[in-house]
Amino acid sequence: MSALIEEAHTQQRHGYASRHKPVIDDRRDEPMQAKASPMLPDVLQTLLREETPSRRLSDLVLPRHITADLKEFLSEYSQASLLRSHSLEPRHTMLVVGPPGTGKTTLASALAVELGLPFLTVRYDGLVGSFLGETAARLQQVIDYVSRTPCVLFFDEFESIGKERADSNETGEIKRVVSSLLLHMDAIPSSCVVVCATNHPELLDRAVWRRFELRMEIPLPGTAELKEWFMKTEKALGPLGISAADFVNLLKGESFSEIEAITLDARRKLILSKGRSTAASALSQAFDAWERRRAVGGVKLSGNETNRANKSGAGKRATTSRKKAVLPTTELLPGTEQPSRK
Ligand SMILES: Nc1ncnc2c1ncn2[C@@H]1O[C@H](COP(=O)(O)OP(=O)(O)O)[C@@H](O)[C@H]1O
Ligand SMILES: [Mg+2]
Repeated sequence: MSALIEEAHTQQRHGYASRHKPVIDDRRDEPMQAKASPMLPDVLQTLLREETPSRRLSDLVLPRHITADLKEFLSEYSQASLLRSHSLEPRHTMLVVGPPGTGKTTLASALAVELGLPFLTVRYDGLVGSFLGETAARLQQVIDYVSRTPCVLFFDEFESIGKERADSNETGEIKRVVSSLLLHMDAIPSSCVVVCATNHPELLDRAVWRRFELRMEIPLPGTAELKEWFMKTEKALGPLGISAADFVNLLKGESFSEIEAITLDARRKLILSKGRSTAASALSQAFDAWERRRAVGGVKLSGNETNRANKSGAGKRATTSRKKAVLPTTELLPGTEQPSRK
């Protein structure tokens, strides 16, 4: 019975994948979703989480060379049958390294969307068992399933794989699961794209790195990426009241998740003002709110770990004074009330 369900599931996916040919251009007319309805077999529910992402690669702002690598990967994957007719397989194992909030998880899910494949994230809480051999057996179950079902299999925060066992020697457990995975990885057919993400590459030794056919390092956004974000935001909201260069200055060293939080906040404020406020004013308020958030419990409560290390003391004060220098004061359209400010 479960075999039948799985087969139907596989067929549905093949159908889905062929309806949505891999897309490597920026066409945005029809929203895509990786998969319509989660249909994981019961036995795998504790080992895998199936999500239905909708963000595309073009929604991410990435350094040019990474976008180029990803497009090449997608193009290769979409022409797998041509490669196979020449006894070649497309590459299908990828390691993504980078600080928190730089888009690793989003990238993995966007690949599923672009390829029209289900997006399956490995659940370490269900995978890692307390008995020797238990983890390997469960991993085998996962591998068996993904070998039959075209999908993107995602190991998020790969380095945390050992943390589910309180009593375990963490590094030992990571090593055991990782080596078990690597033993299996060669056996996973190229119909399954394996993506592992980590922000602690130092926990994986070089031998592990080498096993991945594609390796990408996503840095914190640089000037080019911040400018791109600025332009996207201006396009969506209207004039922001500061120059792209000032925007870059203000946000250098922050992760995209932090930057996204600020610009989303500005957008919310603008919408809720119902035409009484400007984008410049909304952004200025969003920056103020961000400053206040950062001050709660010290800088530690906001920003990523890398930033925490960089932004204490002088750095933080410098950022604050930079803000004062470049941000317009919160101005409102005529006839509206002054919003309360700190
Ligand atoms: N490069 C990027 N371009 C656009 N948005 C990004 C980028 N990186 C992160 N984000 C935004 O930040 C949030 C967190 O990103 P996520 O993919 O979870 O980062 P990570 O997995 O590296 O910690 C997402 O909502 C995403 O929209
Ligand atoms: Mg992540």
